[in-house]
Amino acid sequence: MRIDIITVLPEILESPLNYSILKRAQENGLVNIHVHNLRDYSLDKHHRVDDYPFGGQAGMVLQCEPVDRAIAFLKSQRTYDEVIYTSPDGETLNQKIANQLSLLQNLIILCGHYKGIDYRIREHLITRELSIGDYVLTGGELAAAVLSDAIVRLIPGAIGDEQSALSDSFQDNLLAPPVYTRPSDYKGWQVPEVLLSGHEAKIREWELQQSIERTQRLRPDLG
Ligand code: ADE
Repeated sequence: MRIDIITVLPEILESPLNYSILKRAQENGLVNIHVHNLRDYSLDKHHRVDDYPFGGQAGMVLQCEPVDRAIAFLKSQRTYDEVIYTSPDGETLNQKIANQLSLLQNLIILCGHYKGIDYRIREHLITRELSIGDYVLTGGELAAAVLSDAIVRLIPGAIGDEQSALSDSFQDNLLAPPVYTRPSDYKGWQVPEVLLSGHEAKIREWELQQSIERTQRLRPDLG
């Protein structure tokens, strides 16, 4: 898989994409993530990429030309499955969408911008708009990092024990069961007996019951 992220603030994306599972997945060749500075596609001598909005509202708007040039350049190199725009007015990201996207080959993620981008880009070039939740971020970079993380960890091999992505919260619309590690008694706080029993079937049954109970109590909307 290849993910191309277009942004005016590439620095914000450096650290979230270069640690832990995302780093390993890139080193192992499971995914190539490329971050592109939109300013490199500006024809303006000061590398400007935004301008005042028509209509006189406050804030600056990303212009069509640099975005169009960046996307056109990438499309001249390969075919893309989706050109995603991160925005609070997009469809809300969930595990089902992350699963779908993890099966694709090439993705462009265009990071949203403080006051937005020229709407013509959204009308003509964007194939999917995604929000990471009903709150407003300063820009789309953190949303692009969240989206990339949610996708990449689902690529087979990205997580050492493949079971662990399958048993994540939400994979079957259930929250994950509680987990514990040694010691079994910490200051009198006990690990549930069943987990120490070695009885595999009973443990799986207990985990499922815990998942169901926690989902009903904490996220009844998922059921
Ligand atoms: N840009 C600003 N807020 C956002 C959000 N909630 N999701 C995705 N992109 C955003």
